[in-house]
Amino acid sequence: MPSQNEIYDFDRMKSRLAKKIDPKRYEHSMGVAYTGAALAMAHDADIIKAYTAGVLHDCAKCLEDEKREALCSKYKVELTDMEKKHPFLIHAKLGAVLAKEKYGVKDEEILSAIRYHTTGKPEMTKLEAIVFSADFIEPGRKTLECLPLIRKVIYTDLDRAVYLILKHTLIHLKHKRQAIDENSVAAYEYYKRFATKEDLKTEV
Ligand SMILES: [Fe+2]
Ligand SMILES: [Fe+2]
Repeated sequence: MPSQNEIYDFDRMKSRLAKKIDPKRYEHSMGVAYTGAALAMAHDADIIKAYTAGVLHDCAKCLEDEKREALCSKYKVELTDMEKKHPFLIHAKLGAVLAKEKYGVKDEEILSAIRYHTTGKPEMTKLEAIVFSADFIEPGRKTLECLPLIRKVIYTDLDRAVYLILKHTLIHLKHKRQAIDENSVAAYEYYKRFATKEDLKTEV
């Protein structure tokens, strides 16, 4: 990973990560890191921060239930009712904690981008929006009908791409009758203002 102001030992970070998540998840994480870095280039965001958040965003994804619960209680991670009911959501919040405690990331912007990478939220920072979107569009993601448009739009209009991702995600969750986090609903409502007339022809 080339860098002018490298503050992290990425080799060390990645070899630790490789022991904590499965190979597929590791590959996905690298996809998010490089995609996030490319988006940061396109949008004048901090490339190293986007890359770092991408590498670590799913660092808490592959934990056994017991281990996850133990870590949440060790680090006093407060869980919402939604997270208690749907534990997979916890990996974002816990991932931010582990990025700080285990990987030495102190930068609040990076930690926040990890924290909100699954649900999104209204008025995301550029870095948060980049990591949220990179998670959706990285090369390893299976082909969805909406992906070609989002992958094209995102380099010139990040906010519209975030809207399109949220719309797809909410439609998908509704279709599968799965619960929807209130942050995602609030984010969708917020990002609607960046939709085109064409986008609004189909709504959640
Ligand atoms: Fe994730
Ligand atoms: Fe991910």
